[in-house]
Amino acid sequence: MNIILLGPPGAGKGTQAKWLEEKYSIVQISTGDMLRAEVAAGTPVGLEAKAIMAAGGLVSDDILIRMLSSRLGKADAAKGFILDGFPRTVPQAEALDRMLAEKGLKLDAVIELKVDDAALTDRIAGRFTCAKCGMGYHDTFKPTKKDGVCDACGSAEFVRRADDRRETVAARLEAYHAQTAPIIPHYAKTGVLREVDGMAEIDEVARQIEAVLAKV
Ligand code: AP5
Ligand code: MG
Repeated sequence: MNIILLGPPGAGKGTQAKWLEEKYSIVQISTGDMLRAEVAAGTPVGLEAKAIMAAGGLVSDDILIRMLSSRLGKADAAKGFILDGFPRTVPQAEALDRMLAEKGLKLDAVIELKVDDAALTDRIAGRFTCAKCGMGYHDTFKPTKKDGVCDACGSAEFVRRADDRRETVAARLEAYHAQTAPIIPHYAKTGVLREVDGMAEIDEVARQIEAVLAKV
């Protein structure tokens, strides 16, 4: 199963990718997570990406296309993948088409999480993640079951992202509407686009995605 999760910042891509990984035994490929790892490691790519990400802009297509191409070449991606955060521009979507064609792979579904912009700032501002296993939470919408302890791995260390400030969210949304939304018609044309109501509760969004995937 090869899927793209598409949607604006805070739409729930990372949240939904986690259970999809388990249920379908496929890997989440989050270009945002990959870039944050480069920033943390202080690599040349990380140094270039750091300020752009903090300002809410998009890192260059060249870097992202190279990064994704090498990630898709790893053995675990052969079992299937969930792309979370890629493609984000028309050139990235075109490059992905070429990469998949070269590998003889196809997309089973592009799932668009439809969310009102107004809801996203609250979602993003309340987000935190387990520093050890990466499980995502929200102060209000998805708290840990036990205060201060990760449900998944028991760690007590959590992190908040540098670009999750309210001021940056507006720039990220603008980048989404200007540069990412234009890829949607491309997938509508090829017949793989499926819409899901991202405004519903987390479990309901999951049910909708499951129903969509049962039909592909
Ligand atoms: P990236 O990490 O991809 O961030 P993003 O697209 O802005 O998306 P988010 O991770 O913020 O949101 P999400 O949809 O995963 O939501 P989540 O599930 O966490 O990219 C970061 C940056 O890297 C970019 O800005 C760019 O600079 C760069 N970058 C990455 N890829 C790139 C590319 N291809 N090209 C160029 N640059 C690139 O949910 C959010 C919160 O809401 C959570 O707390 C969650 O618990 C809660 N929540 C989730 N679903 C619901 C629900 N249904 N109801 C209530 N709360 C919910
Ligand atoms: Mg995410």
